[in-house]
Amino acid sequence: MDDKIVGHVFFSPAIIKIPTGIITGVIKGMGLAPMAVLPEFQNRGIGSMLVIEGLKKIKDSKYPFVIVLGHENYYPRFGFQRALEFGLRFQWDGVPDDAFMAMILDESVMKGVSGIVKYRDEFNEAM
Ligand SMILES: CC(C)(COP(=O)(O)OP(=O)(O)OC[C@H]1O[C@@H](n2cnc3c(N)ncnc32)[C@H](O)[C@@H]1OP(=O)(O)O)[C@@H](O)C(=O)NCCC(=O)NCCS
Repeated sequence: MDDKIVGHVFFSPAIIKIPTGIITGVIKGMGLAPMAVLPEFQNRGIGSMLVIEGLKKIKDSKYPFVIVLGHENYYPRFGFQRALEFGLRFQWDGVPDDAFMAMILDESVMKGVSGIVKYRDEFNEAM
């Protein structure tokens, strides 16, 4: 805004490894993290714009799912639901179930898929 960066959002690959069953291999989706808006610019819809525009790009790129670990009162407005509803679990212990959310973008790819979703290894260093 006026040549100043007031917010950011980042998406990076997240994977589900399917070791057995009819479907095998790795399904690659996206993970939303991190995102933030400068305090003095919050509550003006900037965060929402970042998420909505990001999700559009991910849908256009044909990724079948997106995950987010965050505020359970914020992300459902964009269509995220508890990841457990889809049989998706978080890779680290101690995270409240409500805080780990997912959005399915391609039902045909995700049908029958469940398991642990992993962010890139770099995120381990932040946990
Ligand atoms: C979360 C954040 C990115 C939202 O950005 P924003 O530009 O203020 O978002 P918007 O203006 O689009 O939306 C504002 C809404 O978000 C809600 N919100 C903001 N922070 C929230 C939180 N921690 N938990 C729940 N809701 C939150 C506000 O209450 C407001 O709700 P309303 O629309 O019902 O009034 C911003 O508050 C932020 O940078 N927070 C600090 C960093 C952070 O927590 N990042 C997210 C990590 S998961």
